[in-house]
Amino acid sequence: MKILVTGGAGFIASHIVDAYLSAGHEVWIVDDLSSGKIGNVSPRAVLHQMDITAVELYELLLSFKPDIINHHAAQISVPRSITDPFTDVQTNIRGLVNLCEAAVKCGVKKIIFASSGGAIYGEPEEYPATERCPSKPLSIYAINKKASEDYLYFYSHYYGLDYTILRYANVYGPRQDPSGEAGVVSVFIEQLLTGKTPNLNAYPDDPDGMIRDYVFVRDVVNANLKALSKGSRDVFNIGTGIPIKTRELYTEINSQISHEIESVIEPSIMPARPGDVKRSLLNIDKARHFLDWYPQYGLGEGIRETVEFFKDKYTGA
Ligand SMILES: NC(=O)c1ccc[n+]([C@@H]2O[C@H](COP(=O)([O-])OP(=O)(O)OC[C@H]3O[C@@H](n4cnc5c(N)ncnc54)[C@H](O)[C@@H]3O)[C@@H](O)[C@H]2O)c1
Repeated sequence: MKILVTGGAGFIASHIVDAYLSAGHEVWIVDDLSSGKIGNVSPRAVLHQMDITAVELYELLLSFKPDIINHHAAQISVPRSITDPFTDVQTNIRGLVNLCEAAVKCGVKKIIFASSGGAIYGEPEEYPATERCPSKPLSIYAINKKASEDYLYFYSHYYGLDYTILRYANVYGPRQDPSGEAGVVSVFIEQLLTGKTPNLNAYPDDPDGMIRDYVFVRDVVNANLKALSKGSRDVFNIGTGIPIKTRELYTEINSQISHEIESVIEPSIMPARPGDVKRSLLNIDKARHFLDWYPQYGLGEGIRETVEFFKDKYTGA
């Protein structure tokens, strides 16, 4: 198949690109390299450095004629979406609509969309949250992810453009950018390996931090492989269903690298950031049933692979 991957120079989608290429698909990437890196991009993929809001996107799609678009390009910072809402709207809404308009005109069959199970349920009414849990967004990022899902529903209903929405929990793994505001796993690893004191963000009523559902990037990639042929016009939570507090996560990471740094560093407790929900946990039964998908990686295993990646990067070990 011909697949266009937006955001393919970034953390998650660069792994998806690798998997699609290995499965024998032809892959073009659209990425403006605002946070993505050329070093993440397989030489077997064709990279077009372009903003997803550009009018030229239509001509690009016309020349490639992809069967499927896998859409991961986005403004990904929850706090930034609150301090700078227009940038979030520009990339995450205008970019999506630009992509859908071009997709319809160019006969694209399906869009696979990276939504956020960690954000759109807000403080969820259901715990763990199923896909039926009402969306109660607590950030502009979350509002725009939910609105993107509604746009996809409209384009499917009105123009017959198929979609599969994957609502990710907190994704972690190799290539996640520790300088961004998302990705506490890579942030902790980078800080510990470079001798900085990590910050643990917490609400005053619980200094051990917030509850999150951490899913390894290779499991997320597998969901994107399944979505090529399954999950038509539907939405799926992609997580683990296992609740982990930030302190617990920190302890796991610290125990895996403490022998490298020969000490155990106590993190500084910092206030929660704007838009941080207290607990987020996904029910993944639907993906198991209809996508035939289930996470294969435990936290310890995923952290180990991520630590190895950053050790190579920071220490050349
Ligand atoms: N990382 C997570 O835990 C998580 C959780 C839920 C959903 N998501 C979603 O998954 C997707 C990928 O996230 P990620 O963590 O890999 O982030 P990332 O920042 O590594 O990847 C995003 C990519 O999009 C590109 N990009 C940004 N704006 C663009 C624009 N206007 N035009 C073209 N390219 C642009 C960036 O250069 C980058 O390569 C995003 O849609 C994000 O909202 C991520």
